[in-house]
Amino acid sequence: MKLEYHHDLFGHLELHQVTGKIIKELNQESLRTGFLAFTRKAFALLPGIDNPHILDIGCGSGMVTLELAALSQGRIIGIDIDKQALDKLNVKIKNHGLSDRVQAVHKSLFKTRFPDDTFDLAWDEGTLHLLATGKSAREINRLLKPGGFLVMNETIDWLNRHLKKFEQYGFIRRDQVVLPEKLWWTHYYTPLQKTILELEHQQPGSVDLKKLKPLKREIEMVKRDPGKFDCAFFILEKIG
Ligand SMILES: C[S@@+](CC[C@H](N)C(=O)[O-])C[C@H]1O[C@@H](n2cnc3c(N)ncnc32)[C@H](O)[C@@H]1O
Repeated sequence: MKLEYHHDLFGHLELHQVTGKIIKELNQESLRTGFLAFTRKAFALLPGIDNPHILDIGCGSGMVTLELAALSQGRIIGIDIDKQALDKLNVKIKNHGLSDRVQAVHKSLFKTRFPDDTFDLAWDEGTLHLLATGKSAREINRLLKPGGFLVMNETIDWLNRHLKKFEQYGFIRRDQVVLPEKLWWTHYYTPLQKTILELEHQQPGSVDLKKLKPLKREIEMVKRDPGKFDCAFFILEKIG
């Protein structure tokens, strides 16, 4: 499969060339780049490790994976079960000349078969809440070196409800970064809603409207109770 990226004038659409056919998609990542400031803030709270070995759990198309590569001189492995997203990440890895230290692996967290104690750092942005917590905590503990760190960016509600499970599997919370209240609503979903409206009215037919339906449902869900989606980074150390 051949994949190429081009951005339209507004930066909200991306064009992929998939086996000769041009496909237009909404570029959601372009609306999220400001959130990387919090990724950097959380990373800065970790003890410095030379050339850390980092696992990005559920890396998707790799916006955070590439940020981790920029923040460290380490080796980063992004894993995900979404092959299409990984194809996009692979294009970025190549374009950024990062093939020697960033790798996209098409594997579930539970099926990586990486040896015990492989990673210094495991990074999660929005993936672990989708998975069984005990099973994830046990597997991440196995994959991390003693004294390794797990950083999770999830809703505060989810983090508070699930922290105990991570403690049961040998983790202790060392620090946190709390994102401003309703940030997702004001800085992601509101512009996203505006972009979708613009696309529908100013560039009809530019994107597959069917694909926008779940996104519109998501926007309505967040709009009903934006505070419920307030997020934080919890920084956990493996102590047992
Ligand atoms: C909300 S997205 C977050 C993507 C990325 N971390 C980011 O911040 O852009 C959650 C990702 O988790 C992936 N995922 C779901 N189950 C997974 C599993 N068992 N192992 C690895 N990744 C998984 C999904 O395919 C999706 O790409």
